[in-house]
Amino acid sequence: MSTTTTLSNNSTFTNSNAKEPLKNVIVTGGAGYIGSHIIYTLLKTHKYKVISIDNYHNSFPAALTRVSELALTELKASLPTDTSPSPQDLDSVAIDVYKCDLLDSSLVRSIFSKYSSQNGGTGIWGVIHLSAYKAVGESSVIPLTYYANNVSATISLLQIMQDFGCHRLIYSSSATVYGVVDEIPIKETTQRQIEGKEGSVYGRTKVMCELIVEDLCESSVLTGSTTPFQAISLRYFNPAGAHPSGYIGEHPRGRPENLLPLLAHMAVGTVKDPVLKVFGKDYPTPDGTCVRDYLHILDLAAGHVIALQALEEGSELNNRVFASTTETGKGSKGRFKAYNLGKGHGMSVMQIVGAMREATEFDFKTEVVGRRRGDVPELIADPALARAELGFDAPRDLETMCRDLWNWQEKNPTGYE
Ligand SMILES: NC(=O)c1ccc[n+]([C@@H]2O[C@H](COP(=O)([O-])OP(=O)(O)OC[C@H]3O[C@@H](n4cnc5c(N)ncnc54)[C@H](O)[C@@H]3O)[C@@H](O)[C@H]2O)c1
Repeated sequence: MSTTTTLSNNSTFTNSNAKEPLKNVIVTGGAGYIGSHIIYTLLKTHKYKVISIDNYHNSFPAALTRVSELALTELKASLPTDTSPSPQDLDSVAIDVYKCDLLDSSLVRSIFSKYSSQNGGTGIWGVIHLSAYKAVGESSVIPLTYYANNVSATISLLQIMQDFGCHRLIYSSSATVYGVVDEIPIKETTQRQIEGKEGSVYGRTKVMCELIVEDLCESSVLTGSTTPFQAISLRYFNPAGAHPSGYIGEHPRGRPENLLPLLAHMAVGTVKDPVLKVFGKDYPTPDGTCVRDYLHILDLAAGHVIALQALEEGSELNNRVFASTTETGKGSKGRFKAYNLGKGHGMSVMQIVGAMREATEFDFKTEVVGRRRGDVPELIADPALARAELGFDAPRDLETMCRDLWNWQEKNPTGYE
């Protein structure tokens, strides 16, 4: 099996100080931008044994090394002088790292097998499934590649989870599932858009995966399973920023697609565009440019940890989250729930440019060009449901996002390379 467990000593520790044993959690796409910050946040809880699966298509293994180092440093700093971390706490900040393509089902299966009770393990408690391709434009050019990597790989993962009795999933979804909307802010009850020219192949892969996961949850009800499949789909708006240490951050392979990382690369000189193209300044928004809902990557990551805790059967959070799904006529029939993760207010393109100008002191030049196909004036989350049921909050502001992003970019002009 071509796997590496370079960051973990991989031993099974006894529960020396009566703490609950660590729960094994797989994070697919763990080395990516969002995955690395989620893993960091998971490690900080000292409750999970994190297992990362990534093929590094759009990421670097160094991200995981740094995440683990950061968590270990913070663990040591949290202890009184002359106190050493317990073996379990040390294990909780070490990541089991697998270089693995999610489409290679036999390899994924062998990872699940390694942690199973047949092999002396406790099994995989839950999965946070992030791995996907995410470039909206590219997805229309190579749709089959996107459907295979995003949808087929998800089906294969779900099958393996089912075969190994793993029934807890956090799915990485997106605001793109809503397509073009009539009502702002967007509620979770808004119809997802699978048809229509305005949507993208990427967006459709996210809707398809949500539907597949929802059907799997419902099948547990139909079969009367004693361990029903439970899933929470988190629909992200626009994650931005980095860990404030500047030790981990966003490093996509190739030219950054999103506005904030593009500006950071322009300021640091790794993208040499003389001007930033602003697509349309005639939208019905305060300054005419598109408005999006940005939230700090660490707030987004914290949302995943709460959602994972909500999959703990019998807990108050679990009962609250899935209460409405078991009542007739309300929501999904199975234990499936979707939440928006956003701040609930938006920032325009020009506001973002202004905030990055302040953070970087770089004099960005802009040029207004025509509207881009598929862009909508405003995409703003209604985060009320996530706030009420999960207790989710996204307190970090735009200034913090820009400062942390720039801190990362300035310290690491070429990212992890
Ligand atoms: N970044 C955003 O703005 C945003 C917004 C909404 C939703 N999302 C979703 O969040 C998830 C993570 O996004 P991200 O921004 O961290 O992207 P990313 O590209 O940084 O991370 C995705 C990771 O998945 C890995 N991967 C892709 N295909 C794989 C495969 N077949 N097998 C194993 N690993 C594979 C990549 O190498 C990468 O490390 C994606 O599902 C994306 O669609 C992202």
